[in-house]
Amino acid sequence: MCPFVEQVQLMTGRVIIVGASHAAAQLAPSLRQEGWTGDIWIIGDDSAVPYQRPPLSKDYLSGERGRESLQIRPPAVYEKHGIKLLKGRVVSIDRASRSVLLENGERYGYDKLALCTGARVRQLQVPGANLQGVHYLRTLDDVDGIRGQLQSATRVVIVGGGYIGLESAAALRRLGVSVTVLEVQPRLLARVTAPEVSAFYRRVHTEEGVVVLTDWAVAAIEGDGQVAGVVSTDGRRLPADLVIVGIGVIPNTELASGCGLKVDNGIWVDGYAATEDSRIFAAGDCANHPSRLLGRRLRLESVPNAMEQAKSAAASICGNRLCYDGYPWFWSDQYDLKLQIAGLHDGFDNLVLRGNPEQGRSFVAWYLRGNQLLAADCINRPKEFMVARQLLVSGIGIDPAHLADENFDLKGLIS
Ligand code: NAI
Repeated sequence: MCPFVEQVQLMTGRVIIVGASHAAAQLAPSLRQEGWTGDIWIIGDDSAVPYQRPPLSKDYLSGERGRESLQIRPPAVYEKHGIKLLKGRVVSIDRASRSVLLENGERYGYDKLALCTGARVRQLQVPGANLQGVHYLRTLDDVDGIRGQLQSATRVVIVGGGYIGLESAAALRRLGVSVTVLEVQPRLLARVTAPEVSAFYRRVHTEEGVVVLTDWAVAAIEGDGQVAGVVSTDGRRLPADLVIVGIGVIPNTELASGCGLKVDNGIWVDGYAATEDSRIFAAGDCANHPSRLLGRRLRLESVPNAMEQAKSAAASICGNRLCYDGYPWFWSDQYDLKLQIAGLHDGFDNLVLRGNPEQGRSFVAWYLRGNQLLAADCINRPKEFMVARQLLVSGIGIDPAHLADENFDLKGLIS
């Protein structure tokens, strides 16, 4: 077939995007930019209009932002681009008939399908976890549920000292709420940072009035209908009238595995966000992609990852090629701290500090293997964060002493 005719056919069918996520909000307009003239539908179960999740555990929880302000784009923008937003839950994919089945029994055909299904919270599996007053924090409705109970809550216990737990603790302290954070590991943020950075976050949260308890494994949640307290495996008891659980997420891969696509810690895609079915693509928290830069496969839980991979998926759907292979980056806002992380620190053999994490609220933790930079945690150090990203891309070897020396001009390394 003439490639031109093939292209016209490809660009005029229907693309269904499953999940009204950050990835979906990027993918749909990117499809128009890439030249897709056919139908574009986003089907979301949580919400029809994609919204920003990062503020949920920050200023949406503290009440400083309203619901509407969280929309990634107002509904009128989707309308303008002819992007249809549907509220509904896709329960299965039939690759043979190229259709998706919704929970309400409706079935829709697709020419191309993009899975932007994200991740769901990991549930706390202990007695009492279903009591009134035990909340997770992943969706707008979750936070509305928490906020609805905050007026009457005087003792909040947060289970999990990761991003959700610590950002929530900071937001609640702004409201003057009494907060205790329970972390099962010996230190906070153990999944993503070095012990020195964990100790820094423990100090700051303690200074801000949060009680931080590590090595604390929850055995049960107590209460008569309504939560009244939390019990540890070694018998300690903490009173609580509201519990927020943030113990990680699980990628939503069941639609993919249910239709026979490869799934292994995420939906298996190539560097172009394509699955092994040439009509099906995946992007965001649910996708597992190869990183040539890092030499291994990654499944990342971050907004920048969702957006960049979605652009790659949009290009692929339109028959173009845009490889997704950036260095990961993340951020977290707590109190007056802006943490920006560039790269991934796995496999580091040298941690270099620029600034003193034991005093003040500004320093950088550089993670190196030999003289190669792997990652940097920059706390209130936006300039160093920019340098770190450029150093990672450049791949140049670095003298660790230069990274530690506050008087050394790091920008000179790049030029
Ligand atoms: P997380 O993986 O960051 O942290 C979970 C924490 O809970 C870990 O420290 C873990 O050791 C602890 N934990 C696990 N089981 C536990 C238990 N039974 N009792 C006590 N502690 C336990 O996951 P989190 O905080 O739930 O965040 C979920 C997702 O949202 C992640 O993908 C995260 O990256 C993302 N997120 C990112 C933010 C950011 O980048 N600023 C902000 C908020 C969420």
